[in-house]
Amino acid sequence: MSKFLVFSLVIFVVFSCKKKIKENVTGVKPTTEKTLKDMPFPFGAAVSASLLRENSSYKAIVIKEYSSLTPENAMKFGIIHPAENYYNWPDADEIVALAIADGKRIHGHTLNWYADVPVWVKNFKGSAQDWENLLKTHIQTIVSHFKGKVASWDVVNEAFEDDGSLRNSIWVQKLGADYIARAFQYAHEADPAAILFYNDYGNEYGAEYTSKKREAILNLVNSLKNRGIPIGGIGLQMHTRYIQTDANISLAITSATATGLKVHISELDVALNATYDPALVYTESLGEMQAAKYKSIVKIYYSIPKSQQWGITTWNVTDGDSWVPGFFNVPDWPLIFDKQYQKKPAYQAIFDGVVK
Ligand code: G3I
Repeated sequence: MSKFLVFSLVIFVVFSCKKKIKENVTGVKPTTEKTLKDMPFPFGAAVSASLLRENSSYKAIVIKEYSSLTPENAMKFGIIHPAENYYNWPDADEIVALAIADGKRIHGHTLNWYADVPVWVKNFKGSAQDWENLLKTHIQTIVSHFKGKVASWDVVNEAFEDDGSLRNSIWVQKLGADYIARAFQYAHEADPAAILFYNDYGNEYGAEYTSKKREAILNLVNSLKNRGIPIGGIGLQMHTRYIQTDANISLAITSATATGLKVHISELDVALNATYDPALVYTESLGEMQAAKYKSIVKIYYSIPKSQQWGITTWNVTDGDSWVPGFFNVPDWPLIFDKQYQKKPAYQAIFDGVVK
């Protein structure tokens, strides 16, 4: 072996040892990869129980990236309470257990909604008192089951129509408009430590569409707060599009912040198919415009007082798991990971949004 080869080998071994020693001493590798857990406020995703069970790539991203999880469907009335005397816990329990094992926060969704009402409730016959008991028992059984594990709940979801009128849901029909306040009280009785949210979409709708919905939501939330009803936060779903203006998004966030409550961007996605074009294809330029919108949303959110930042949650993880393409029946790519579990430009944009 030549002298030069021996010399090179010695140098290599010395440097490798130094690097290893440095890792052992500091406990960190010299180059650490950032994840969404490094964001300065909780960054979460809605998750599917079946995907977590069946898809290891999906589960790996969920474990690696997020500090908060919202069950996308597992806690909805129709799934968790499908028959009058039967609660179906496994899907929700599995998500909660996974979160606890990894130190993640759980946001519960949702105790009351006009949709996903099971057939047994639709067919329920009873007095006003029987309906009140149904609401109270449902809420308190679920909140008690997860007491101390679920940090916050969407208590009432989507009570308003887009024109700002109260939705004529089965709950309003059977219990009257003020059932909303009682739903918050029932949840609070079952877990006084849980932060309770009113959650809705459309706060960012511009005046060209209607600002009535935002006004109705804010009126409700302020009136609950002024009456001493235990509401702790406002959830802005923010199912939005890359063409939405920053001004409208800013108005949604700052007007919610003015309530003094915690603000959760609770179901974020940024759709790209603004014209519902069945032949649209994803392009780099669309991806960049989407990233710019994610960055704006994060930046605006990061400017509200820290004490009001409950966090940002995207509505599922990859474009392949999003509700958007199926619901609108056109191709779309609304999330920050693609179908192949790769990071899109929007992923980096999340971090760029918190650079001061
Ligand atoms: O799991 C069943 C499957 O077994 C069955 O074969 C299939 C046939 O339709 O349905 C599957 O269930 C679907 C479920 O999503 C899981 O994919 C339901 O039909 C479908 O209605 C359900 O849609 C959910 C929707 O809420 C209604 O509950 C979406 O995943 C979910 O993303 C969406 O989330 C809502 C929020 O809760 C409230 N804000 C708006 C948001 C988007 O619509």
